[in-house]
Amino acid sequence: MTIEKIFVVGAGTMGNGIAQTAAVSGYQVTMMDVIPEALEKGQATIAKSVSKLLEKERITAEQHAAAMNIQAASDLSSVAAADIVIEAATENPQLKFKIFQELDEQARPGVILASNTSSISLTKLAAATQRPELVVGMHFFNPVPLMKLLEVVRGLATDETAVKTVVAIGETMGKVPVVVNDSPGFVSNRILCPMINEAVFTLQEGIASKEDIDTVMKLGMAHPMGPLTLADLIGLDVVLYVMEVLHENLGEDKYRPAPLLRRMVDAGYLGRKAGKGFYEYD
Ligand code: 3HC
Repeated sequence: MTIEKIFVVGAGTMGNGIAQTAAVSGYQVTMMDVIPEALEKGQATIAKSVSKLLEKERITAEQHAAAMNIQAASDLSSVAAADIVIEAATENPQLKFKIFQELDEQARPGVILASNTSSISLTKLAAATQRPELVVGMHFFNPVPLMKLLEVVRGLATDETAVKTVVAIGETMGKVPVVVNDSPGFVSNRILCPMINEAVFTLQEGIASKEDIDTVMKLGMAHPMGPLTLADLIGLDVVLYVMEVLHENLGEDKYRPAPLLRRMVDAGYLGRKAGKGFYEYD
């Protein structure tokens, strides 16, 4: 099947980034969200991002126009027109299972149902559908328009043709796909989130200030952002959730979430999106 039309579920940080990147890469994109304000905010984020990229001549006027032409949808009624669906809804297992059941009912037979999940088992998501061989992970990274990696996750039942198709789509979107097998946290978050968690333990134990912890990792290890700044970008709730998934599924103490991380999530200090995390934002 030739892939021309991409349907993105979710207009949040990841959903709008995926929709934008797909549109500037030549796909016809529909971005769907059940919350009208989220849809508007997603469209505004895309408009701001592509105007910046146009200014810097990193995209053409045609690509800018394509991103501004993304169709908005408030439900799944137009999903039957899609050649592939990429789900990027809130990271809540019950919600995702429900969305996958609905997508399975409404998308055409043979259409791949991809998920941008950062931690939910692709094998389990696939089992919620009647087309497990066509369920595959397309894990993008924040900010999607700038980050080069696409982690493609192969569930136990995923067919190799589905893997090859999403690898090709990822390449068309300017990404470098890396195929990994389904496992808690995949490769990216299995390594990244414990590092961030350890940075939170280091802060909690008073070993250094947040700024100094970030500087150590920026200047000593050439990370573009320190781990606490990165946690604010990702969302502390997301980091905590990934740690809980690793702890529960891999069963080792080394994945125990830092108590300070949990307390900050309890307080609503979720990072940039909340205006406050380890740092404060306007
Ligand atoms: N669209 C367009 N432009 C954007 C943008 C976007 N979405 N986001 C940032 N930019 C622009 C900035 O506005 C800035 O423009 P300017 O130079 O005109 O001011 C430019 O890109 C560069 O940004 P910055 O000056 O802020 O700083 P950097 O050079 O450090 O680049 C960065 C920003 C690319 C975010 C870099 O800091 C970085 O790579 N950080 C690490 C990000 C990372 O690790 N992401 C992965 C998170 S994990 C994840 O997503 C997986 C999940 O499952 C948890």
